[in-house]
Amino acid sequence: MLFHRRAFRSGRRGRAPGGGPSSHTRTRASSSPQAGNAARGPSGVLPGGGAPAPPRMSAVSDAPDPPPGSSPEARWAHGRVQSALAAGPPERVVGVMVASVDFRAAVAGRSGGLSSEADRELLRAWRAASDLLLVGARTLEQERYGALVTPAQSASRVAAGRPPVPPIVTLSRGFDLDLDQVLGYDEQLDVTVYTEADVTAPAGRPSVGVVRLARLTAAAAIAHARREAGATRILCEGGPTLLARVAQSGLLTDLSLTVSPLLVGHGPVVLADFEAGEPRRLALHDVHRDGDFVFLHHRVSG
Ligand SMILES: NC(=O)c1ccc[n+]([C@@H]2O[C@H](COP(=O)([O-])OP(=O)(O)OC[C@H]3O[C@@H](n4cnc5c(N)ncnc54)[C@H](OP(=O)(O)O)[C@@H]3O)[C@@H](O)[C@H]2O)c1
Repeated sequence: MLFHRRAFRSGRRGRAPGGGPSSHTRTRASSSPQAGNAARGPSGVLPGGGAPAPPRMSAVSDAPDPPPGSSPEARWAHGRVQSALAAGPPERVVGVMVASVDFRAAVAGRSGGLSSEADRELLRAWRAASDLLLVGARTLEQERYGALVTPAQSASRVAAGRPPVPPIVTLSRGFDLDLDQVLGYDEQLDVTVYTEADVTAPAGRPSVGVVRLARLTAAAAIAHARREAGATRILCEGGPTLLARVAQSGLLTDLSLTVSPLLVGHGPVVLADFEAGEPRRLALHDVHRDGDFVFLHHRVSG
């Protein structure tokens, strides 16, 4: 686990996926496990002349069984994630979103008003099973990030040789990120910011790292994180803008969409900016109803 984290943090200088320069600065050595309720709101060195073997990454069986006494929602969420992971290739980019019936992605600026206990458990189960969380810059600012997984999920990850909490990767071209807001709920949040700006890791923010790419795209950031961090299973938590770019890149393998029984009428729309030359046919892996909520899981590719 230590190698895994140190390797991503120490980074590697080389060429960016877009062919331009990349730099990667990390300063922090560890982050603490986090507990409780989450807002619905990173890793390895490339082989090349005696480089160490890639760190141990996720296996389906790494995801912890819910502890005895867990809620039915937590048990369902665990089973659903396991079933989805067992049904495809190891390398995944999974989008997880909740939307109203009119496909709005937020109520009063946040997703919490759309969610339910089962939906929160599903998000935690996906996080617990993931190597890395890809989160949009505006989402990181607006949702209260912290308490990403339960203490039991953290403990099981550590027992499996993985970081207690999956690190977060975000994209901000100009590094226009309000770090006070991002770290307002948990100042230890392990965040790597991919940017085009010529900046270094911010002083006094030991948990924040910076990777500079000559041309910042979702695909370039994912490729870099896969290569440098050895991240196999990536969870894209939105927001709508980032998820649309990830879907457009063709890298999205799964979409877990919770349909919330609300008509909201305003606010961001899930996948509103998605553009494709041809309609893309998806495969429905699972559908589940919990009260008035519907949980869809589609395989997108792979
Ligand atoms: N319902 C849900 O499940 C859910 C999930 C997450 C978020 N949300 C909600 O969605 C809202 C935020 O979503 P959002 O769509 O406004 O923003 P977002 O997807 O969280 O972040 C988008 C920002 O990422 C940066 N970026 C840089 N390069 C990018 C690239 N190649 N592709 C995409 N983004 C790139 C841009 O900021 P720079 O200008 O800094 O480059 C862009 O403004 C919030 O209200 C949040 O509550 C809902």
